[in-house]
Amino acid sequence: MSRTALVTGGTRGIGLAISKGLKAAGYAVAANYGGNDEAAKACEQETGVKCYKFDVSDYDAVGAGIAAIEAELGPIDIVVNNAGITWDGPFHKMSLEQWQKVIAVDLDSAFNVTRQVWEGMRERGFGRVINISSINGQKGQFGQVNYSAAKAGLIGFTKALAQEGAKKGITVNVVCPGYIDTEMVRAVPEKVLESIIATVPVGRLGKAEEIASMCAYLASEDAAFITGATMTVNGAQYIAS
Ligand code: CAA
Repeated sequence: MSRTALVTGGTRGIGLAISKGLKAAGYAVAANYGGNDEAAKACEQETGVKCYKFDVSDYDAVGAGIAAIEAELGPIDIVVNNAGITWDGPFHKMSLEQWQKVIAVDLDSAFNVTRQVWEGMRERGFGRVINISSINGQKGQFGQVNYSAAKAGLIGFTKALAQEGAKKGITVNVVCPGYIDTEMVRAVPEKVLESIIATVPVGRLGKAEEIASMCAYLASEDAAFITGATMTVNGAQYIAS
């Protein structure tokens, strides 16, 4: 039987490309989503990937979602913590809600999901946890104190958890996309986005598929010795040591 993968935020943008990539690699894929039923329907129709609606920032809702997925598709061996939102603004204008919401969806979600599949992975002696961070978690971004903090948090989460999973056959890695051609990036004011693209040596936005292929590799048996790693995929916009 093929392994089962859960992709959070898996019906749109980078997540949709990851869901498709993992399905093409032969996994049974569950794509989670938070609210956009139309996109989920389109995802199911286009890809045949089953979509599950639950709020990744709510621990109990995640537990119920995981139970439903495992009942239908079998134990989850691969998790891609991809769900994320932005709520940009300079810090002097940032509200408590703006801070808490982004931390809850972008960082707490990794705990809520991973914690509830972790014991099963340990028991079975196999697991792949792939966290989707961002270039802006590595370098910081003006207007994104909340998002940069959450995405940097995912890097620390990865480095610590990788050490705990190592003896149990579980790898934990983090992927840091640069600016990828998705709705989220297209929402950045045009002038601001133009100035950002001008700083990308490759000279363009990345493609969602370019993140998906990295995830498919990290999920594979071939990547068993890669754990605790930060994989930068950003067209050389920021070269982290
Ligand atoms: N660096 C330095 N100064 C900047 C700046 C920057 N990058 N951007 C804006 N400023 C300055 C402005 O020039 C202005 O200065 P003055 O007051 O002296 O004129 C001041 O900051 C305030 O600017 P605004 O009035 O325009 O501020 P605003 O409340 O409208 O907010 C912003 C502006 C939301 C921060 C806007 O600059 C922005 O959207 N920035 C882009 C943030 C970004 O990159 N988001 C990425 C989203 S995609 C994503 O997150 C995916 C991923 O992982 C990569």
